[in-house]
Amino acid sequence: MTTKSTHAKPLPSLQIGEHTLSVPIIQGGMGVRISAHSLAAAVANEGGVGLIATVALSLASKHYKKSKDYYKANIKALEDEFDLARKISPNGIIGTNCMVAIRDFEAMVKTSIACEADMIVCGAGLPLRLPEYAAARPQTALLPIVSSLRAAKLLTKRWIKLYKRRPDAFVFEDPNTAGGHLGVSRDQLFGEEHSAEQVVPQLAEWSQKEYNDEIPIITAGGVWDRKDIDHAFDLGAKGVQMASRFLCTYECDAHDNFKNAFLTAKQGDVVIVDSPAGLPGRALKTPFTNTLLSGGEVAMKCTITCLEHCLCRDDETTFCIATALNNSQQGNLKDGLVFTGTNAVRHTRMMHVKEIFDEILNGLPSEN
Ligand SMILES: Cc1cc2nc3c(=O)[nH]c(=O)nc-3n(C[C@H](O)[C@H](O)[C@H](O)COP(=O)(O)O)c2cc1C
Repeated sequence: MTTKSTHAKPLPSLQIGEHTLSVPIIQGGMGVRISAHSLAAAVANEGGVGLIATVALSLASKHYKKSKDYYKANIKALEDEFDLARKISPNGIIGTNCMVAIRDFEAMVKTSIACEADMIVCGAGLPLRLPEYAAARPQTALLPIVSSLRAAKLLTKRWIKLYKRRPDAFVFEDPNTAGGHLGVSRDQLFGEEHSAEQVVPQLAEWSQKEYNDEIPIITAGGVWDRKDIDHAFDLGAKGVQMASRFLCTYECDAHDNFKNAFLTAKQGDVVIVDSPAGLPGRALKTPFTNTLLSGGEVAMKCTITCLEHCLCRDDETTFCIATALNNSQQGNLKDGLVFTGTNAVRHTRMMHVKEIFDEILNGLPSEN
């Protein structure tokens, strides 16, 4: 690839709590084990924030042998991934993504704190008690993910009242483009109301008026290249969270079969599935989604009881999401769910994380 610089305007650094991001990019947490130590450390080494996704991290680890060990194994697996990430990136900003809808949310936050995570980003629900669980380490920045101004206001008011602490930043996730679980119902999908174009300026104006811009707004969903980042800044964001862009990197922690599925994906290969968490999820078309969407049989046996409310475990509908996501991470796409944002089809070749950062920093158009 040619890397001739086009002398793009430098991207500004971003302060989140006590941490200075030299590049205002957070790598979105991707479970199960899609963003673990390798991807998180590579992004941190480039000056962004690397996030280890904590959900069901233990499933493919040496710590998980039987269902009854699951919760303990998850704690050990997170400790391991943190140690490995720190070895690769001793000085980078490394944090975790913890999902509120997961039964061991509190344990994952407390383990992140014990591992001295620089940041904790929380999605799939409003993390109302996060400051309480993270109290032992005030220097860990806390970033809730929201999909509306209303949610941001409610959470901030509650944290200030109960914990005298405000969020260090908000991540807004656009359900129209993001991957994984989406923060709106199926019938609200693809509407203007929850788009980045509508909500990011509202959040930015609120942060500026009420908090003197001290709660930076980070936007997520559909951010691929420098053009998208410049657009996010025009809307009022101070940074971006990018996930799908890092899927076809050598450093991404998934099996090669998972990555190759993107290299052969075509227009129209992104579908919406109903997750057992009761939310729509955006995924790549695979043999698994073909079976699921045509009403065929998929794995339903709940082994680890990961979700607080689970349609598979409690209502015997949908599918076992931990099994499906773990299968794809391990390379089994017949039985595996592959989450992705709408940009899935833009991957054309494997890249190093460094190449992606160079391309963005130099303002080069992406090859795809
Ligand atoms: C494979 C995959 C797994 C994901 N897993 C999680 C997760 O465990 N927790 C979470 O909060 N968000 C998860 N997400 C959402 C991302 O962190 C991110 O916010 C979103 O995908 C951004 O959109 P983009 O993929 O277009 O960049 C996942 C996304 C993908 C593509």
